[in-house]
Parts: sequence; C-alpha cells; structure tokens
Amino acid sequence: MSAGTRVVRGRVLSFTGDPAEAGAASRRYIEDGAALVADGRIAAVGEARAILAGAPESVAVDDHSGALVMPGLIDVHIHYPQTQVIASYGAQLLDWLHTYTFVEEQRFADPAHCARVAGFFLTELFRNGTTTALVYCTVYPQSAEAFFAEALRAGARMIAGKAMLDRNAPKALLDTAQTSYDESKALIARWRGRGRLDYAVTPRFAITSTPAQLEAAGALMKEFPGVYMQSHVDENADEIEFVSRLFPEARDYLDVYARAGLLGPRSVFGHCIHMTGDEVAAMAESGSVAAFCPASNLFLGSGLFDRARLAGAGVRVGLATDVGGGTSYSMLRTAADGYKALQLNGQSWPAAEAFYQMTLGNARALSLDHAIGSIEAGKDADLVVLDSRATPAMAHRMETIEGDLDAELFVLMTLGDDRAVRQTYVAGEPRKA
Ligand code: GUN
Ligand code: ZN
Repeated sequence: MSAGTRVVRGRVLSFTGDPAEAGAASRRYIEDGAALVADGRIAAVGEARAILAGAPESVAVDDHSGALVMPGLIDVHIHYPQTQVIASYGAQLLDWLHTYTFVEEQRFADPAHCARVAGFFLTELFRNGTTTALVYCTVYPQSAEAFFAEALRAGARMIAGKAMLDRNAPKALLDTAQTSYDESKALIARWRGRGRLDYAVTPRFAITSTPAQLEAAGALMKEFPGVYMQSHVDENADEIEFVSRLFPEARDYLDVYARAGLLGPRSVFGHCIHMTGDEVAAMAESGSVAAFCPASNLFLGSGLFDRARLAGAGVRVGLATDVGGGTSYSMLRTAADGYKALQLNGQSWPAAEAFYQMTLGNARALSLDHAIGSIEAGKDADLVVLDSRATPAMAHRMETIEGDLDAELFVLMTLGDDRAVRQTYVAGEPRKA
C-alpha cells in the first residue's frame, strides 16, 4: 500500500464549473461517497461502496458520514505577518497601516519570530479548512524563508512572496529597487517549485514603491514566466488620491502597475473597489484577478466591491480573507461577509456560487485548477470535511432543512466557521489541530 493511503468517506460535494453559468449541472454530489487518497493525491472518487471495494485490504477509513467532504478551501489574498494586527481598533487603511501594521511587521526582522508566526498561521489556516493561499510576507527575506520552510514541512500548496517597499513606510521596513529585486530573485531560485510551493512577486502597493521598484518587479515577471504577482489597488479614497499625486503621469491607479508590466493572468490585485471603467477594462483585457476581500472592506470601511460589474465585464474574481485587515481566517465567515456586502450593493450570491468560489473558482483565479479546487482522480488530496450541524444554532436551524443542499450550504456559510470544520486533509494527511 502506498504511503498515506486512506479512504475519506462522507457526502462528497465538488464543482465541475461555475453554477452561475451551468446551474445544478456544475456540481457533483454523492450522498454516500468516498475519496481514495494515496501519495498525496486523489486516486479515485465515487460511491463509497465502490471505492471501498476497490481499495487495498485493511486500508484506513476516515468515516465522516453525514458531513460534507469538499475540496480544501482557497484564500487568494492574506498577510501572514498580521496575525497580531487582526482586530486593531478604529482606523481606516492608511492610518491602520501606519499605526498598527508597519509597526508590527518590523518584528519580522527576527527569524525566530517569523518561524513562530508562520507555524501559528498555517495551523490556523488548516483549522479553518484552508489548504492553499496566496500570502504576503514582510519586506524581510527571512519572513518569506520562514513561511516557505513551514509550508514545505506541512506539504501544503502555497504561494507567497517577500513584500517590496522602498518609500512611504518606516525606514526599518524599506528595501531598495535593487535589493528587492535581488532578494526576490534569490527567494524564487530557492523556493519556487519545491514541494508544492510557488512564488509571488509582491510590490505591496503603489504608495510604497518608487517607479524604479515597480520596474524591478516587472523585470522579475519577465525573467520568470509563470511567476505570480500580488498587490493592492483601489481600496480606499485617500489611498487613491495619494497614488494620483505620486504618479501624475498615470491614467489611473491600475495604470501605475500596467506601465510597469505588472498586469496579467498571474496577477492578483486585492480589493478593486473604486475602479474606473478604464481600470475594469484593463483588468479584463489582461486577465488579471480581482481579490474580493469583504471582511476587510467592511472592517476598514473601505467600500463595497461591485462583483456584478466586474464579473459582467469579464474580470476574473477571487475571494479572500485579507487577514489582518480582514477579521477572520475562515473562508466561510468571509463568504458570509461577502453575501452581506453584496446585499448592501443590491446584489445577491447563491450559496452554490459562494462554495464554487471558495474551491474551484479560487483555484481558477490562481490558475491552479489542474491540481486543486475539485475532488477528481489525479488532483491533490486537499480536502475539508464540513459539519452543517456543528453548533447548537446550526443544528437547530438544520432541523427545518431536509434534503435541500442549497439551503444547507447557505446555513453553513452564514453560521459556520472553524467549528464547522471537522477535519482538513493536506496532501491526504489530517491536519486539523
Ligand atoms: N495596502 C497596502 N498594504 C496593505 C495591507 O497590509 N492590508 C490592506 N488591506 N491593504 C493594504
Ligand atoms: Zn491585503
């Protein structure tokens, strides 16, 4: 029997497409289903009886009957150095950054601190059912080193990068265009492709990078085809105004990045709230991804993401916690906040679409749908087991829902959090602490 062979049994639910386009045909649901996992991959999925009959004798069976077995959740924008910034009171973006975030991130000059927080962070993601994330580290290369080392140890599929900042932040947090280029390049050489890791060139946002540094980021993207790029755009009115003063030659905020060659299908921009028509068109045309961060947008009072407008224009959209501007590691709670933020914008969000987004939709946003995002033979064995009756309030509400999967999913996203995560499998290994 191969290493880590086991059968994960439960109500298997996985999407094959976007329910907004294909409706119920976009999902595969097996009431008494199972996945056979071996060597970190899904070897087979189907009716439990058939999977058990075909599995090696004396195979371990994790019986989660009654609970939903879904693909591991994916978070397309999160800051690992902000685990002790989360829940900081009373400020909007620029004050929040200077008062809390830029102070806290200086502690990551210490590799021991980096290692401790990286360990906490990954444990917390797994506790919440998240198995893949696109992650910001700090300006210090040692913070990226620590994160990648922890992720490699866990066998997780993670994308991360050292932040690049060479102005408008405390001196201790600044690199230069050249050192940020050199350090990012060294990290790419050291970590890209090890285990399931990949790298994201990470110019934090236009305010904290000179044009020379953005050019350096663009050069890295050219030099390393397929590398990711992550940044922030159009989050807050004061931020946008500051960017227009720093880059008077740019047509708009997104154009600052476009001029440096930073748009494209591997580029993920956090927030995208206050976008002009030109910016929306440029996002769509370049295949760039907009990360919808509802918890953060509500917490920092940044504004309401216009999902219908962006998706309608053909912009690729992902969903993200944005911890620590965001207030929960849970993608379920983030989806609940997303639902409420969209309601305030006159939009709705059926639960099936939200669960598609947290799984296959976000895998597509990260161009990783060949490997993750659904439960299919050959894909990575990253799974989450969700219990729709995990709390008294959920169990009580579920009493009135019998056999209605959409209603159940809506309960799960509206009332669920880490308590609803019964188990998380990373490359086939149970990781819920
Ligand atoms: N813009 C630049 N840095 C950050 C950050 O850390 N969080 C958020 N929400 N926005 C940013
Ligand atoms: Zn962010």
